[in-house]
Amino acid sequence: MKLLSNLVFKILYVLTISMPLAAVDVSYTNDIKPIIQRSCSGCHQPATKMGGLNLTEYDGIMAGGQNGPILMAGAPEKSRLIGMLTGNVKPMMPMGADPLPEAEIAILKRWVTQGAKVDTLESEKGPQVPVEPPTYIHPPAVDGLTYSPDGTFLVIGGYKEILVHKSDGLKIVARLLGKSERITGLSFTPDGKTIVAVGGTPAQFGEIQIWDIQTRTQTRSIISTADTLFGGAVSPDGKFICAGGADKSVRVFEIATGKEIFKVGHHEDWVLDTVYGIDGKRVVTIGRDRAAKLTNSETGAFLENINLLRDQLYAIERHPRRDYVLVGGLDRVPYLYMMDRPRALKIADDSTLVREFEEQKAKIFSLAFSPDGSHIAVGGMSDEVPIYETETGKRITTLNEVNEGVFAIEFHPKGDQITVAGYDGRIRIFNPKTGKLLSDFSPVPLRNKVASN
Ligand code: HEC
Repeated sequence: MKLLSNLVFKILYVLTISMPLAAVDVSYTNDIKPIIQRSCSGCHQPATKMGGLNLTEYDGIMAGGQNGPILMAGAPEKSRLIGMLTGNVKPMMPMGADPLPEAEIAILKRWVTQGAKVDTLESEKGPQVPVEPPTYIHPPAVDGLTYSPDGTFLVIGGYKEILVHKSDGLKIVARLLGKSERITGLSFTPDGKTIVAVGGTPAQFGEIQIWDIQTRTQTRSIISTADTLFGGAVSPDGKFICAGGADKSVRVFEIATGKEIFKVGHHEDWVLDTVYGIDGKRVVTIGRDRAAKLTNSETGAFLENINLLRDQLYAIERHPRRDYVLVGGLDRVPYLYMMDRPRALKIADDSTLVREFEEQKAKIFSLAFSPDGSHIAVGGMSDEVPIYETETGKRITTLNEVNEGVFAIEFHPKGDQITVAGYDGRIRIFNPKTGKLLSDFSPVPLRNKVASN
C-alpha cells in the first residue's frame, strides 16, 4: 500500500513538475500565426512588407527582412525577431504600438528555442486549384450540367474543372479550373452573367464556386463542410444559392459576398437536391430521408413536408411557371406535387399530389422540365430517358441511345434540344420531339491511349 501510494505520488509529482518544462511544442499554426496576425501583419504582409519583411507566411519569416535573417533556430538571444520585441534591438516592434504581452514574447521565444519549426501539413493548406487542366483517358462521370439562359453555352462539370461548350457541343469555349473533384450541380444566375457550381471532394470538403462567364474568372470559392455539397439552386432574383449536404444540412449563401445566411438541419439524412419556389421565398429540399421539405428561404424556418414519405429521393425540379415540384428516387416513380397544400389538411398526407407518372425500369437520379413546363424527362439507372406530357402523364418520346446511370438532364432554353449525361461521361444531345440523337461526344479532350504508352 505504501509502495503504491508512493508510486502514485511520484507519478503525480513527475506530471505536475514536468508539465511546464515539457510543455507541448509550440505550434506555428496554433500559437505563432495568431500573434503575428494580430500584431504584425498590418505592416509585414506581402502588400506592405515594411522592413522588407513578410511575416504572414512561414517562408516569409524564414526569408528575413532588409537586414537579413531575423531568427536563428535554437538561439532566441541571437534572433532579431525576439530582440526587437523585448527592446534589446532597435527599433522595437510592433512599431509605434505597445510591446507585446510578456506571455506572447515568451511563446515566440520558446518557438525559436524549439527550432522555429512549421507544423502546417500540406493537407492543412486546404484544397488546391490545379495548375494545368487535367488530362483524361476516359471522360469523367458527369453529375452537373446546365445551359446558359440565352442558350449560347452548355456548361458541364468535369474533374476539378468546369467545361464551357458552345451549346451545339462543337467547341470548348473555356475550361474553368477549380478545387472540387466533383461538380454535383451547375446553375446560371438569371442574368446569364454568373455560373454557380456546387460540389466538393468526397470525404474532404464541400465547395461553391462562383464564376464570371465573361472574364472566365472565379470570383469566389466558398469551402464549407467536410463532404460534398449537392443541389445548388439559385434564387429567382439571382442573389442566393441553396445547397444540401452529406452532413444533412441545408445552407443558403449570398452569392455577392459568400456569406452563409443560414444552415438548418431539418433533414435526417443526406440532402441531395434543392429548388426555389417562384417568388424565391421558399425552398424545397429532398434527400435520402424520403422527405420533400418546404423551408422559408429567408429565415430557414421549417414549414412542412409536402409529400407522403415513401422512399429515398434523389432528384427534384420545379415547374418553370408554377409552384409544382417533380420528385423521384428509389421507388422509380416520378411524383408531381404542389408546394402549397390545397386545403388545411393534416401534414404528411398526399393531398398535395398532382400526378404520379409511369414507374421507371430502375431508380431515378435526374429529372427535367421543358422550358414551358409542358413536358418532363426522367433518367436514372435505366437505359432509356422517357419524355412525358406533364398534364396527362402520357409518354411522348423515348431517348434510347443512353447508358445506365443518367445523372443530369437539361432542356435547351428554346426547348428544341435536350442534353443527357451521366456515368459514362458522354454528352448526348437529342431532339426531344422525335427522340433522335443529334450528337454524342466527350466533353473533355481525351488523351490517345496508344500514343500515351
Ligand atoms: C506599424 C507598422 C509595423 C508593425 C505593426 C510592426 N512592424 Fe516590424 N517593422 C516595421 C518597419 C517600418 C520596419 C523597418 C524598420 C527600419 O528599417 O528601421 C520593421 C522591421 C522589422 C524587423 C526587422 C527587419 C529587418 O530585416 O531589418 C522585424 C524582425 C520586425 N519588424 C518584426 C515585427 C514583429 C514581430 C511585429 C509584430 C509583433 C512587427 N514587426 C510589427 C513596421 C512595423
